[in-house]
Amino acid sequence: MSLATRPTWHTETGEWSVELGDFDLVVSIPLPRVLHVVLYPRGQRPEPTPAIADPGRRSLPFETLESFTGIRCRGGDMDCYFRLFFPHSGDAAEEGEKGDGFPILGVYAHAGRDDRQAHENVVLTPDAAGWKLEFPLQRADRCFGLGEKTGYLDRRGRAYTMWNTDDGRPHIETLDPLYASIPWLVHLAEGGAAMGLYLDDSHRTAWDLGCADPHKVVVRTPRPAVDLYLVVGPDLGDVVRRYAALTGTMPLPPRWALGYQQCRYSYMSAERVREVAGEFRRREIPCDVLYMDIDYMDEFRVFTWDPARFADPAALHADLRALGFRTITIVDPGVKKEAGYPVYDDGLARDAYVRDADGVPYVGEVWPGKVCFPDFSREDVRRWWGDRHAPLLDAGVSGIWNDMNEPADFSTDSKTLPEDALHAYGKRHAEVHNLYGFYMAQATHEALLRERTGERPFVLTRAGFAGIQRYAAMWTGDNHSIWLHLEQALPMALNLGLSGLPFVGPDVGGFTGDTDGELLARWTQLGALTPFFRNHTCKDTRDQEPWTFGAEIEEICRRYIRLRYELLPYLYAQFRRASQDGTPVLRPLALEFPLDPETWAIADQALVGPDLLVCPISRPGVTRRAVYFPEGDWYDVWTGARFQGPDWRVARADLATLPLFARAGAVLPRSAWGASTSLQDRETLILEVYPGSQLAGEWYDDDGASFAYGDGAYSLWRFAGGPDGDALRLAIEQEVAGYESPEKRVRLVVRGVARATAVTAGGREVPFEIAGGDLVAEGPLEPTEWVCRGVYSV
Ligand code: GLC
Repeated sequence: MSLATRPTWHTETGEWSVELGDFDLVVSIPLPRVLHVVLYPRGQRPEPTPAIADPGRRSLPFETLESFTGIRCRGGDMDCYFRLFFPHSGDAAEEGEKGDGFPILGVYAHAGRDDRQAHENVVLTPDAAGWKLEFPLQRADRCFGLGEKTGYLDRRGRAYTMWNTDDGRPHIETLDPLYASIPWLVHLAEGGAAMGLYLDDSHRTAWDLGCADPHKVVVRTPRPAVDLYLVVGPDLGDVVRRYAALTGTMPLPPRWALGYQQCRYSYMSAERVREVAGEFRRREIPCDVLYMDIDYMDEFRVFTWDPARFADPAALHADLRALGFRTITIVDPGVKKEAGYPVYDDGLARDAYVRDADGVPYVGEVWPGKVCFPDFSREDVRRWWGDRHAPLLDAGVSGIWNDMNEPADFSTDSKTLPEDALHAYGKRHAEVHNLYGFYMAQATHEALLRERTGERPFVLTRAGFAGIQRYAAMWTGDNHSIWLHLEQALPMALNLGLSGLPFVGPDVGGFTGDTDGELLARWTQLGALTPFFRNHTCKDTRDQEPWTFGAEIEEICRRYIRLRYELLPYLYAQFRRASQDGTPVLRPLALEFPLDPETWAIADQALVGPDLLVCPISRPGVTRRAVYFPEGDWYDVWTGARFQGPDWRVARADLATLPLFARAGAVLPRSAWGASTSLQDRETLILEVYPGSQLAGEWYDDDGASFAYGDGAYSLWRFAGGPDGDALRLAIEQEVAGYESPEKRVRLVVRGVARATAVTAGGREVPFEIAGGDLVAEGPLEPTEWVCRGVYSV
């Protein structure tokens, strides 16, 4: 065995390549512990998809060593080995055939030096016109990621397709695919070592995760080239963060987008929208955002307002703004095919639409009837589309909701455009399909950046591809008002978080069908802790605003929506972290406790940031549930009761109670609730302290709206301390003081305290009281040390 030709270096990119029969193999290490492998028929190197945030990145230096069986590369904090197969072809590859069925290349990547053996061992074999990629699964291995898929946390045992699809049937475990495609698999192996495999391929790829053969992952692409990234751990969190470095992180959203959002298909008139706004304020249920679904438009023509029902949108938005509401309008891609409608005419004149195989603008069917679809894969079309938003933005709309962007098409059996429809540069829809929603969200995001200078954009999308987090938040589409969908909302959000998307959530209350009070109450409890928090329902369903089901349900919804606002200082810090390095806001237990296999498949509990453990109820009539407490001590945030992990316990969960626990040692920054983020009284920062051997917490703040934080206009406070004899010390430090927050005072709430003798701040005695097991003391917010003396726990 010998190499087909000698390897060559591409010095300008730092890549290394070798000829393998009719194929070229190009290898680079763009980021530490991220191996990039491209294998393609000579001269036909595939372009990276737009998922890759920085496609021009130079490889880190690595050295190569040829051996008898292959090539070894070392660098970028990893160790890789390429096994070259030439055995059966005689030599088919050299004769210009692909030698179907015989492997060509084995790629083994290993995060050197770690004894948890984070490695991946992938074999590439030609398969029909494309390729098959396989690697073995050991008995205890788990599979996560793949973005928006139904089912539970561990995806092993099922097969999935990447093909953005609008499917209104119940999103049960066996239904696949859904609206977004993220060809990124995270693989957790025995011993807790994690690896990730990202296939940078927008075609319809097939992912069999131990379904046909329980001991194998098999990925198939119809494309003649393989563009593969292998990410080695060992920690699950590191793998997820490296993937975020590759595909980009979510930019920090405006603070109002973290508030509660209310939607319906549709609030049919400006009067109805005002009425709903009034109810929220009258009932003192916080709400930041009201949505306008498709009926605000003039017969579903995009970028118009219905002249009768929404006669004066600017006045509507101004009045709502005065009440502390933002508004978001839906924008679908289909442009009504109607001569005389300026958007349609203009698009036609610019040749902006996707064409059919014969080269004429393709005509499909969506809400407005016959429509044409802008070809968002073209930069000039994205710009043109972005500029069409003026009628919405001029009226004062704050964010845009992109829907039906798989794209959905009612006129075909496939429910989308034909695969041979044509996009720019002669690309077929088969290649662009999964990117369509991504490009549309990009167009919208960039339009908001241009038109709202200095403001953080907010775009919500239904369809997407890997990297979509750079442009939009995502909701999980048309779920049903059924308990199963409440149950599956959590693992769906968790796997999206592991797939680069921190800002996700379901339609609270369920979209299709009629919800009921109990279901709405339980769903609102979960929604309060999921990153994106929006209640939405379909046309012709029962109303599902929080007050619809009588006083008891209303009170439960009110309490948890308020909780959301109380937790915003803590949540905002988690969003900040996610925007910096891709650590999900909502995390599976396995992310924080990867060495505890008991956590690996838990799909009905999650951590919000590092310190809050949420255990929602997703069955009717249930008033108790099993909770797994991982290593460490945990406090019931409602009762203050303390539990020691690792252990399974039964938690109380009457209808008004969402089981919610805080990690011992946590210092949670909280605030008072307010009618909306802009109306919160933020004079006092509440620091909720859950005593433990080591206290730690942080609070990040900035103006919540602009990009000034990028120039240092933010503040970062750190809290640290712990027990000291019978005293409890907590140091408040300000690490960055580039922004002056409204908070001027601090209220310390130490949980689980029966008695104390004195409290001092900076050496001076401060009055305190003890009520219901909490020690409460207040003083100015400044860098200082607080000491609670003579503390006896409850
Ligand atoms: C789609 C969306 C849904 C929306 C409806 C009407 O079904 O997923 O959220 O309400 O279209 O626009």
